Amino acid sequence: MKYQSQSVAKLYFIAAIALFVAQILFGLIMGLQYVMGDFLFPEIPFNVARMVHTNTLIVWLLFGFMGSAYYLVPEESETELYSPKLAVILFWVFLGAAGATVAAYLLVNYSTLAAATGNELLPTMGREFLEQPTITKIGIVVVVLGFLFNIGMTMLKGRKTTINLVLMLGLVLLAVFFLFSFYNPENLVLDKFFWWWVVHLWVEGVWELILGALLAFVLIKVTGVDREVIEKWLYMIIAMAFITGILGTGHHFYFIGAPEYWQTIGSIFSAMEPIPFFMMTLFAFNMVNRRRRDHPNKAAVLWALGTGVMAFLGAGVWGFLHTLAPVNFYTHGTQITAAHGHMAFYGAYVMIVITMISYTMPLMRGRAACNSAASQVMEMWSFWLMTVSMVFITLFLTAAGIVQVWLQRYNDAPQAFMVVQEQLAIFYWMRELAGVIFLLGLVLYIASFFIKGEEATA
Ligand code: HEM
Ligand code: HEM
Ligand SMILES: [Fe+2]
Repeated sequence: MKYQSQSVAKLYFIAAIALFVAQILFGLIMGLQYVMGDFLFPEIPFNVARMVHTNTLIVWLLFGFMGSAYYLVPEESETELYSPKLAVILFWVFLGAAGATVAAYLLVNYSTLAAATGNELLPTMGREFLEQPTITKIGIVVVVLGFLFNIGMTMLKGRKTTINLVLMLGLVLLAVFFLFSFYNPENLVLDKFFWWWVVHLWVEGVWELILGALLAFVLIKVTGVDREVIEKWLYMIIAMAFITGILGTGHHFYFIGAPEYWQTIGSIFSAMEPIPFFMMTLFAFNMVNRRRRDHPNKAAVLWALGTGVMAFLGAGVWGFLHTLAPVNFYTHGTQITAAHGHMAFYGAYVMIVITMISYTMPLMRGRAACNSAASQVMEMWSFWLMTVSMVFITLFLTAAGIVQVWLQRYNDAPQAFMVVQEQLAIFYWMRELAGVIFLLGLVLYIASFFIKGEEATA
């Protein structure tokens, strides 16, 4: 580690991993509720478990992004972080707000929570991913503003690099688009329209900048390839992300009551959205093939390559599968969507955060470059267990989705929703099994941090 203040990232990463565990546990609870409808009823209803699963996911990814920035920005800027103290204070504020919100989801009836937190003054609650009480949302804005101030000031006093700039742009726009979560029009069409300005423009727009910047940073470090080469790739990737992703938002406007031209615009532009993701795959493999040195942190290299592949499969391939309007007409809101949502979130954003953790954690824990060989072997096992089981979760849900579309929609005698769900039970059991293996992989991942021993050499 070059600068002492980079180590605040450690706190953020530990919180991220803890919330990751919570997220997976609630995923498994829901997976069981899919096949045993009254499991944990009435203590943890499905809708509550779902809210906890998705909200902890988003929050731990935000912890991961912030931790990554606190590590990356000082190193790129070649200066200490502007205020490590502010970073620590904001960490506790964010963790407190996240913990209190999850506890409230679990302990208080949602409508009671809405009333108790003054939702009627500024109604923002009740929408998927944006269920947080308005005060929590305000808390998030405060934390993110403080964070942006802190890394912004660090950048201003130090060296300006492309990676820093792209990361900063991504993070600022992340904050800007989150502001649309405060806009909650009565009109449901408008509501849905702008809801996607948060959700779609995050994952298929500005988060891609964060993803690209973090990937570029790790690739420079582990391959020693010239910065100029890496920067050129980064520019092309983010240009393609914007060119395709902004108008690609139209793939969510097909059937919500928005004008019909969105079916054409959305289909055309979103069909090109896999391009930037494919470029990221090429980017990662190209840089590793052209490496100037063999970095001893093999686990980090594996995570970086894995991100390139899995982001393309989950977002690019599984996204393309249902993105054209005539296809989406049948697949909208089915298990196909869930299959894609899982692999895309895992492949792109979960994996890039773990890539950063994998590269930086050994350094923050006082090692010269990497963990012991034994620790890395265990980490690489966890990589394969989590990644392969996520592939299976995706395949089982895709199979369920195809049968669902067939029986429930693409049929002369369509069957009712729940009648169809009964017939999908076998796929849901297999998804649950794959989920348990995913959890096992996560446990191994955490265990790998506790394996000591001599540092590995290249
Ligand atoms: C890493 C990037 C991505 C992530 C994390 C992601 C995640 C998701 C999630 C979670 C949903 C479900 C939203 C809901 O609750 O309704 C969704 C929907 C969708 N995604 Fe993605 N996505 C990504 C990239 C893409 C790409 C590149 C495409 C197209 C090529 C795509 C096409 C779609 C479509 C068409 C839907 C709507 C499905 C429906 O109508 O039910 N996604 N995505
Ligand atoms: C890193 C791993 C995971 C990620 C990134 C993830 C992400 C997500 C996302 C984005 C959604 C919302 C999907 C949508 O609206 O289309 C979701 C829902 C869900 N997840 Fe996960 N998840 C993960 C692991 C798991 C595991 C291991 C299980 C259980 C075996 C699981 C079970 C579920 C269930 C049952 C839902 C609700 C689907 C529905 O509403 O019908 N997830 N997850
Ligand atoms: Fe989208």
